[in-house]
Amino acid sequence: MKMTSFFLITGLLLTACSDNPDPKASLATTPNSQSAVKIKTAQPSVARERDFAKVMRGRKLFTQNCASCHGSQAQGAPQWSTPGADGKYPPPALNGTAHTWHHPTIVLKRTIREGTIAIGGKMPPWGDKLSDADMEAIIAWFQSHWPDEIYDTWARMDAEARRNQITQQ
Ligand code: HEC
Repeated sequence: MKMTSFFLITGLLLTACSDNPDPKASLATTPNSQSAVKIKTAQPSVARERDFAKVMRGRKLFTQNCASCHGSQAQGAPQWSTPGADGKYPPPALNGTAHTWHHPTIVLKRTIREGTIAIGGKMPPWGDKLSDADMEAIIAWFQSHWPDEIYDTWARMDAEARRNQITQQ
């Protein structure tokens, strides 16, 4: 009798898994590969940003402050995934084809606020030039480039990070 219930439970778990693809599977895809964009979640469960004015304000702020390095469409520098002659990374794509969607809001804002020069990178800090709301608008704009599947996976991870108050990457 015990074996029967074991198989029954295993069967149920397997069914549950195939109905709900593991979000970790999408995190494991190679950054910058087009396959990341093709991942399907059964039902995108998260509402996208609908505040158009905020997104457009973010676009303007991005053009003024970030596009010179990250590209006008947040596409990043060519070869952003290969360190330059100085051993430092070029500005990456923020449009969903690189790693940006692996980071919760708290980490994205910290990167923008503090930059990366202090930790050996090349991005200047923006904390004295941009307010929290400015940073959120910029994030909303570059996230508007992310496919639903990527955004959905990110949003679940972000909600988890908020719950756990994760402050480290
Ligand atoms: C002078 C060039 C430069 C400017 C201007 C710049 N960045 Fe960056 N940014 C970089 C570089 C280079 C990196 C990669 C980290 C490093 O320095 O090694 C980076 C990394 C990032 C990351 C982390 C991405 C990831 O996938 O982990 C975010 C987010 C980001 N920048 C947002 C912005 C925003 C928003 C602005 C404008 C307010 C901005 N950056 C302006 C050069 C720049």
